[in-house]
Amino acid sequence: MNRRDFARLLALTGAAPFVTPGIAWPKGGKLPPTPDVPDEKFWASVRDEFVMPKELTMLNAANLCPSSGPVLETLYNTTRDMDRDPSMENRAKLGDGRENTRRLLAEFLRVTPEEIVITRNTSESNNLVSTGVDLKPGDEVLLTADNHPSNHNAWQQKAKRFGFTVIDVPVPNPHPGFDHYVQAFTKAMTPNTKLIGITHLTSTVGDLFPAKEVCRIARERGILTLVDGAQTFGLLDVDLSDMQPDFYSGSAHKWPCGPKENGVLYINKRAQSKIWASIFSAYPGRVGVSTTFEGFGQRDEPAMIAFGEALKLQTAIGRAHIEKRSRELTTALIEGLKKIDGVKIWTSPEPSRRAAVLSFQPGGLDVRKLSAALYQKDRIGCATRNGQDRPGLRFSPHFYNTHADVEKAVAAVKRYVASGV
Ligand SMILES: Cc1ncc(COP(=O)(O)O)c(C=O)c1O
Repeated sequence: MNRRDFARLLALTGAAPFVTPGIAWPKGGKLPPTPDVPDEKFWASVRDEFVMPKELTMLNAANLCPSSGPVLETLYNTTRDMDRDPSMENRAKLGDGRENTRRLLAEFLRVTPEEIVITRNTSESNNLVSTGVDLKPGDEVLLTADNHPSNHNAWQQKAKRFGFTVIDVPVPNPHPGFDHYVQAFTKAMTPNTKLIGITHLTSTVGDLFPAKEVCRIARERGILTLVDGAQTFGLLDVDLSDMQPDFYSGSAHKWPCGPKENGVLYINKRAQSKIWASIFSAYPGRVGVSTTFEGFGQRDEPAMIAFGEALKLQTAIGRAHIEKRSRELTTALIEGLKKIDGVKIWTSPEPSRRAAVLSFQPGGLDVRKLSAALYQKDRIGCATRNGQDRPGLRFSPHFYNTHADVEKAVAAVKRYVASGV
């Protein structure tokens, strides 16, 4: 658009200066109802809800997902409304929107709004737990050895400060099955164990942990549980009323496809008297635990409201359908990759031990060069795992991916493994 066109647009629409012309995103509402058995056509219409160019295949949901059109639109419109009139009178409604997101989060996770804290991300949620639970010398915290740094390193640092002990339960590869972990945790628990921290689904090789069973055996012994849900919130049809952890954490910008810098910390009613808030400031939430735990000062309330839109979209599509679809695409990727000579898959072939995070070693190829080629030449975005520990590439498909994406990715890896990067 040239200057004259832009001036004409302003004259026609009355749009204010500094509004970027040509902002376009899919409008919410055009998605058809989900058929009983969603087909490729339906999933293609889901893909149309996202602004990513058609040729871009993103297989990196475990890291960061795109926000959908309805999320972007809400974020933009609400921010614009606030910035056009930042008076306290105009902003009063934002508080209502934030509480609406809390209700949506509670419905999504099948718990109550009184147990929901809207945080900034999983890292913050995990750290609110490791700082807030009162632990002292002699107390023990059991962790899985393959936790994210926001869980693993955080507990180790706080152990140094507060004097408690952290014990890692080893994580063998390939995934040895749910029973193995239930037995390993049962064996590792002692009368001094005060908390068990696990990652529901690991971001490394996509091992799924028996969260419900681990929470049950811990609960029976009065031990608190923290389930890091960064890789399951918005991917699996998580039901916290069934899992019954004391704490569960997640990020909006991953599988829920929400805005950046929003997250959730679930604090079970029965655990609320066993944790201290770490941050005290103005503007807490209005109900339950949020009145003490969510006073983080001025927040980005438009983003919090847009977070609710992300949850609404997933709920409208059907969370069980989303989980099934992501798992099905992962299975198709595994089936394709395992036929390529030289490819070693680190993720369990057994569907009950994994979900939609898949890691593999692409023969002897340099994974950094390979991922650069995949992005630059094939327009495929993924993550690399460097170092000695199960190195390779990570693919994490989601409900905006299609079987065409899977075929494209498998064909590209096959080509590079055969002829080099
Ligand atoms: C298992 C796990 N926990 C926590 C995090 C941290 O998430 P965030 O960066 O949104 O705080 C990640 C990020 O990848 C993760 O995979």
